[in-house]
Amino acid sequence: MLKSFTILFSLMVIIQEGKTNLYEISEDYLAFLEQCRPTIQENIVSAFNNEMARNHRRRNFIKTVHLLDSILLSVDNTKIELSDLKLPWLPDFKVINLTVNLVNLCLDIHFKLGDLNVNGNYEANNVTLQKQLPVSHNGDVSVNFSDVSVKGKVGLLIQGDSFVPKNYDIDYSWTESEVTVKYFVGKDTQVESKITGPVGELVLADKIWLQLKEVLTSILHDQLVGVVVEYSVTESLADEDKTLRDYARYQVSKANGLFDTLLCSAKDYLVEKDYRRIATSPFQVIYRGKLTSTEQGIFQSGDGFITDLSTLSRLSDLSLFEDEHQFHVYGTLGLRDFKHGYEHFSTKFEDNELTGTINTQIYSNEIFIKLSFEKNAENVPKPKVEKIEVRLIKEAEVDTSGLGSLSWLIPKTHSWVVGHLRTNVMSNLLKYFEEAFSYAIEQELKKSQSGEPDNEKSKLFWTFLFSSK
Ligand SMILES: *[C@@H]1O[C@H](CO)[C@@H](O)[C@H](O)[C@H]1NC(C)=O
Ligand SMILES: *[C@@H]1O[C@H](CO)[C@@H](O)[C@H](O)[C@H]1NC(C)=O
Ligand SMILES: *[C@@H]1O[C@H](CO)[C@@H](O)[C@H](O)[C@H]1NC(C)=O
Repeated sequence: MLKSFTILFSLMVIIQEGKTNLYEISEDYLAFLEQCRPTIQENIVSAFNNEMARNHRRRNFIKTVHLLDSILLSVDNTKIELSDLKLPWLPDFKVINLTVNLVNLCLDIHFKLGDLNVNGNYEANNVTLQKQLPVSHNGDVSVNFSDVSVKGKVGLLIQGDSFVPKNYDIDYSWTESEVTVKYFVGKDTQVESKITGPVGELVLADKIWLQLKEVLTSILHDQLVGVVVEYSVTESLADEDKTLRDYARYQVSKANGLFDTLLCSAKDYLVEKDYRRIATSPFQVIYRGKLTSTEQGIFQSGDGFITDLSTLSRLSDLSLFEDEHQFHVYGTLGLRDFKHGYEHFSTKFEDNELTGTINTQIYSNEIFIKLSFEKNAENVPKPKVEKIEVRLIKEAEVDTSGLGSLSWLIPKTHSWVVGHLRTNVMSNLLKYFEEAFSYAIEQELKKSQSGEPDNEKSKLFWTFLFSSK
């Protein structure tokens, strides 16, 4: 925190000394950047296209399989579990538009991915029916997403002599999805049936999509980084890169400074409201011992928990986008200490009735956040949390106690916990963060609007945000 206050303070000194134009880029330099832009852009587009073509050729002999975590769903009183989900290939990103924006240090992208298919196993059990007639449905499931595309901004940071793609303010879209199931009736007859629906209609597809987005963004990042970092900043700008570097540094400190002030106040709010540890929803699953077994078990958790929300931190430098209408700050956050678990679960299988606890540590987590500030006629900023979404959950270490005599349930339990966390719990966590940031923004605005001398700093801070253009 100390660092960001120092930045904030030095920014304020700049304002007070009347040097608000210190980092304004001259018309001449803007014209120069515009001159360099087409070549940089052409180079990146053609290198990216070549890379995609190479991937496409490799596809025939290198099998790339991306594994997805299980998904747990409840539809009325039916429990659905999707497992062994995979995206069995490396998608191509076809460039529809890729524009380099040097002043705002970002790439404007629009790529087409075509149709994507995720397949795996499903199991569906009607809980009410189970009690009377222990039937269970299971088989193969395959979900097809049509005409997938991705559009948005990718923030660039200047590191060493490279432009490094870092912050992804992007949105995916698809036109419709198709859910296909295959299951056996009797020993030899396989039945196949399908449903299709637009975005938002098929719950299964929407839930898979949440995770698929994570996979796609990380593939996109790998592909873009591979291409973009190859170009020298100094060479691309014919040795006239100093002004852009200074400006980039100034933009990053502005974005980080603003954000850290809000983050600090958001964390105070979480602590004050006693939200360091929050309760999360329970889950219930019906399972079979083996694929062929007829015996059914039931697993029921109590309420879960997540802690520690006050360890929310900025993971790297943020990006900033500004034009005459709006101002965006975007980048990724994460919980430094992310624990999730259940103090109590019970399970029943044949003659076993067991209870226990589950503790999970999530080592790698990323949450994307975008704050937007509209500039209206009076130039009073109207900030809001425009987007907050999960970008990554990885390296979950699940520790289960109490399953001694049913130790074969341990791996299943792990996948249920992670599946439930992703599918149902994370969206709840994000609501707390959104609430905290909304509160922080309100507080800062109030401070800046009240004329008390004490708040002069805060007022200057907000004015400063809008002083560069
Ligand atoms: C490509 O994107 C840029 C930036 O968003 C936009 O100004 C331009 O019109 C787009 N070009 C096409 C052909 O869509
Ligand atoms: C589950 O089974 C019960 C009892 O047969 C039935 O009334 C209910 O409609 C079923 N629910 C679903 C979602 O199939
Ligand atoms: C997915 O959709 C495409 C286009 O409609 C089709 O060619 C392909 O066979 C489908 N894949 C599956 C597994 O259904």
